[in-house]
Amino acid sequence: MALLFLSKHDDPTRWSAALHRHLPELDIRIWPETGDVGDIDSALVWNHPPGELNRYPNLRLILSLGAGVNHVLDDPDLPPGIPIARIVDPGLTGGMVEYAVWAAMRYHRNLDVYERFQREGTWKKLPMPDTARRGIGVLGIGEIGSACAQALSAFGFSVAGWSRTPRTLEGIVSYAGNESLKPFLARSEILICVLPLTTATRGIINAELLEALPKGAFVINIARGGHVVDADLLAALDSGHIAGATLDVFQPEPLPPEHPYWRHPKVTLTPHIASLTNPDTAVLPIAENLRRLSAGQPLLHLVDRESGY
Ligand code: GLV
Repeated sequence: MALLFLSKHDDPTRWSAALHRHLPELDIRIWPETGDVGDIDSALVWNHPPGELNRYPNLRLILSLGAGVNHVLDDPDLPPGIPIARIVDPGLTGGMVEYAVWAAMRYHRNLDVYERFQREGTWKKLPMPDTARRGIGVLGIGEIGSACAQALSAFGFSVAGWSRTPRTLEGIVSYAGNESLKPFLARSEILICVLPLTTATRGIINAELLEALPKGAFVINIARGGHVVDADLLAALDSGHIAGATLDVFQPEPLPPEHPYWRHPKVTLTPHIASLTNPDTAVLPIAENLRRLSAGQPLLHLVDRESGY
């Protein structure tokens, strides 16, 4: 049996080498050179063409090349019933934590303002902010969100997390469900979105949510562009209700050159690099799942198609 590697964004040579280090016998087919489609029993995918995964009659496992699986579930012709696994990798999570801490710290310490002061040639000191009184809210406290929340809490920030279903995390104030979203937002001076993109979370950062944040709040989105209603965020930045936004993800990507985010004075943006899948570390959970698939053992990091994560 063989693994299909299907991604235009990831380097097949690096991935094949990483996979062969752990599974020397693995037969890897690099799409579109699939050979006999009947040989394929697993597929490692990122942004596959819709309907493509129906061509493999013996497919038994779909592996996402990232932490997110919305790119898999968005396919209206996804073959039913086949398990889907995502990557859970400390390397990938660590990158997200670094970015979240950097972006939150930059706003907390007024570094965005000092960057402007430097451009203006202004020597001016602002009052030192109080870490313990700074409310940070993490939207989505799954694998990645909880790591971000705990790292920020270790600095002494007052961190809360919001999730669909209740979660208990040491040192983190937890809010769960739609009815607790408003109180969670009311204490979030810095909001960090780490949610999975699902039908329930698409467009969650809209005018109503932004209005529920304290005046002068900051928004950091390291999840998916589809979480944000761009016109609503731009309006909230222009009205001054939201003081700044750091955005790593967009819809569409690449962000079109004419998009107002590029030149907005209150927007800091990066090209979806908060974390990147590193084959050397991310191969471990993938190789383990392939081993389990051939041994008929329970698979790891499976996604529930209904909830979308
Ligand atoms: C990146 O966005 C990922 O889902 O890993």
